[in-house]
Amino acid sequence: MSTPVAIYPGLAGKVAFVSGGATGIGAAIVEKLHAQGCRVAFVDIDARSAEQLCARLAAQGPAPLFIACDLCDLEALQAAIATVAARWGAIDVLVNNAAHDERHAIEAVTPAYFQSRIDVNLRHYFFAAQAVLPGMQQKRAGSIINFSSISYKIKAGNYPLYAMCKAAAHGLTRSMARDIGQHGVRVNTVTPGWVMTERQLALHVDAAGEAEIARNQCLPGQLLPGDLADMVLFLASDASRMCTAQEFVVDAGWT
Ligand SMILES: NC(=O)c1ccc[n+]([C@@H]2O[C@H](COP(=O)([O-])OP(=O)(O)OC[C@H]3O[C@@H](n4cnc5c(N)ncnc54)[C@H](O)[C@@H]3O)[C@@H](O)[C@H]2O)c1
Repeated sequence: MSTPVAIYPGLAGKVAFVSGGATGIGAAIVEKLHAQGCRVAFVDIDARSAEQLCARLAAQGPAPLFIACDLCDLEALQAAIATVAARWGAIDVLVNNAAHDERHAIEAVTPAYFQSRIDVNLRHYFFAAQAVLPGMQQKRAGSIINFSSISYKIKAGNYPLYAMCKAAAHGLTRSMARDIGQHGVRVNTVTPGWVMTERQLALHVDAAGEAEIARNQCLPGQLLPGDLADMVLFLASDASRMCTAQEFVVDAGWT
């Protein structure tokens, strides 16, 4: 674990719930919230990676709580959130991070596939927020963070339904902020550029991809999962107490 670039004393003891926390950006978020002293729970379908992460972090403090859950199963998601609240009390920070950027051609999309992309990329964001809100409203505090993507801004092709959901994530943030602000609860969007996760490096980052990054980013170098997690820490903490309904883009200047 690298040394934190910032410490937010108010985050110590807070209860955080992260979707898709086993690998990629989600794992960096789990790790960085844990390093701030949060009680971190996360859900994922990748139990093996999740357990490895928990074992690693257990050496540095109380282990995060992993609950195996397919986010397309809303009852399982709601049960996971209820389990965390029963164990630790109401959730303070919800990070809606999990998504799946599977490529698809327009002509191959069926109604069932269309629905499956909404289920994995968008629907669970709303229902996770709905499930944590009563507890946050009671405390009159809370921070919800929805992950978007620059893909819809830069007109990236080959996954129109993914991009559609990523645009919608910010629409969800904007409208929800109006409804929940009066209860002291904030909601913001974090929009990553091209982040060098295990999955991106294995599947998509080749020489042409590296050239594209070099051409489009203003800053040289790789965007790393921890760069996104650092933005999440800021939005989870009181340092952002008057920020809501906003989009925070972390893309090295691509857009
Ligand atoms: N990596 C990038 O370049 C990039 C760029 C723009 C936006 N984003 C966004 O950042 C967020 C994180 O992306 P990432 O690159 O770390 O993704 P990733 O694919 O590397 O990891 C996603 C995690 O979610 C889990 N997951 C997927 N489907 C699930 C399901 N049905 N139920 C439970 N867990 C499930 C996976 O097992 C995995 O651990 C996503 O919202 C993504 O759209 C990423």
